Amino acid sequence: MDTDRLRNSWHVVSGFGSQVPLFFYSTLFLTHPQVREMFPAGMSGQRDKLLGALGKVVANVDNLDAAVPFLQQLGRDHRKFAVTDEHYPAVGQALLSTLEHFLGQDWTPALARDWTAAYGLVSDVMATAARESAQASPPWYNAEVVRHERRTAEVAVLVVRADRPLGYLPGQSVAVETHLRPRIWRYYSPANAPREDGIIELHVRMIDGGPVSSALVQAVAPGDLLRLGSPVGVKLTVEHKQDVVLIAGGTGLAPFKAMLGQFANEGFQRQVHLFVGARTGHDFHDLTGIRAFGRALPRLRVTPVVSEDRGFPGARGLVGEIALRYGPWPDQDIYVCGSPTMVAATGEMALAAGIAAERLHFEDFSGYDSLAEPGPGIFQGDNSA
Ligand code: HEM
Repeated sequence: MDTDRLRNSWHVVSGFGSQVPLFFYSTLFLTHPQVREMFPAGMSGQRDKLLGALGKVVANVDNLDAAVPFLQQLGRDHRKFAVTDEHYPAVGQALLSTLEHFLGQDWTPALARDWTAAYGLVSDVMATAARESAQASPPWYNAEVVRHERRTAEVAVLVVRADRPLGYLPGQSVAVETHLRPRIWRYYSPANAPREDGIIELHVRMIDGGPVSSALVQAVAPGDLLRLGSPVGVKLTVEHKQDVVLIAGGTGLAPFKAMLGQFANEGFQRQVHLFVGARTGHDFHDLTGIRAFGRALPRLRVTPVVSEDRGFPGARGLVGEIALRYGPWPDQDIYVCGSPTMVAATGEMALAAGIAAERLHFEDFSGYDSLAEPGPGIFQGDNSA
């Protein structure tokens, strides 16, 4: 398989911009009308979610080993859309027709063979993981909202009880859907370590025009049912014993709060320095919850940082900048979660400050960019913005 040829051809096709998903979905829905109802009713703005990932992942099939854990999670998570084995060939065909259409004369039999083989490898990893998980877990989890607290003008904390434990790791995320916005899923990181009783805390920031986040903050109430997908995320989990620096912007605090729960249950004390960023002193939505870990984690330090509040008595500036100023952090692993802008800026500053890329961790939710270009990615969950 000539992977350079695969990548180059995807690059050429991507150059046609929004025409590509339009053609792909028209072909898919025309040839397999039964899959239309899996997708949101209005698909503007997110048309290239599936296709963008598909092209990148398949074109980078030579990096498949590195992508396997992510693809397995994606396959398990796709069960929430009711995707089953027989849907993979349908998407594969639509992908190939799309490539053929945009590549014209450059679509050769050899290239068609390579794309078919590469798609086969990728879809097989997803479909196998989905099949295997079907033995042990449902396609999605139902969760009842048991508490809904509006903490700031834009942020709500929801406590939900899933009908069974999800078995996630602190730092992972789960897709959330509300019946108020059917078939639109957004990812949130649970803000607590997993519990036997299925209780999960979600921190949601309302995003302009974000249908799910607006509904979760403004309309959802105790007693409502949500659906949750399988846990995803491979980059923000802590499975070592290293000291850590955690840098949070806004509701990017959620996975770190879950980690504090994990650290509190460990049989040793690691040093944890948590920097929490907000615009003003009034925008911190859960400092009390974080400080409650003080007794269980005597080596925890918490530094609140505001970016736009001259009257704030504590640290002022960009949270990433302040966190680096408190360094150097010669041995610590550094975790960053916040808006894409905040994560990208912090990553750049950290690299410029001499922090090795392998000690910097942030979730690229989609996971795809990092497949093409290993190294810092950008967190894209609704949690962040
Ligand atoms: C190699 C195969 C595939 C890959 C790499 C892939 C990848 C993805 C990714 C990364 C997303 C975005 C996830 C999110 O942000 O929620 C997505 C969404 C989705 N995928 Fe797939 N997918 C594949 C196959 C399929 C198949 C076979 C189906 C069934 C028809 C399917 C149906 C969907 C649906 C319904 C969505 C939600 C789209 C939206 O909300 O706009 N996918 N896929």
